[in-house]
Amino acid sequence: MVREIRIYPDEVLKQRADEVKEFGKEIKELVQDMFETMYEKGGVGLAANQVGVLKRVVVIDLHSGKEKQGKEQMVFINPQIVEERGEVVQEEGCLSLPGLYKKVKRAAFVKVKAQNLEGKEFEVEAEGLLARALQHEIDHLNGILFIDRLSPLQKRLALEKFKKLKRKYERKTASKR
Ligand code: NI
Repeated sequence: MVREIRIYPDEVLKQRADEVKEFGKEIKELVQDMFETMYEKGGVGLAANQVGVLKRVVVIDLHSGKEKQGKEQMVFINPQIVEERGEVVQEEGCLSLPGLYKKVKRAAFVKVKAQNLEGKEFEVEAEGLLARALQHEIDHLNGILFIDRLSPLQKRLALEKFKKLKRKYERKTASKR
């Protein structure tokens, strides 16, 4: 089921998500819904905060485009960055700030420890888009958005721009009803 994406400045986006302790049906449903919601919007990653659920759950599929989507679904429950190296600046966007893209500095390499849907621990080493997506989504679980990674001036300018984008976005959504 596609869930509603929470848009900035929704409070839930600023809150820290809680650790998942039970690996049951509820989490499996949440993950399934998060993939469906992410594909509908054409994103490559989604954190549970973004659908209004304060649980430490992240889904990523780097092939969110129609043809390849679903073949490489990645689920990270209670993810933690345990190692990071290097630095890379690249443009980033977020489904909770639709239409806004800004260059953000991130680590070039990360090692992430997480649990799968059964609660089993695993580790992944990532570079490139996956490293960026992991850092962006783990930030969400801690109530941090990519605009919070900009300088105060850059953040202010980005938010001014987003206000205008949001008005447009809301008009578009309203006209679809
Ligand atoms: Ni995001």
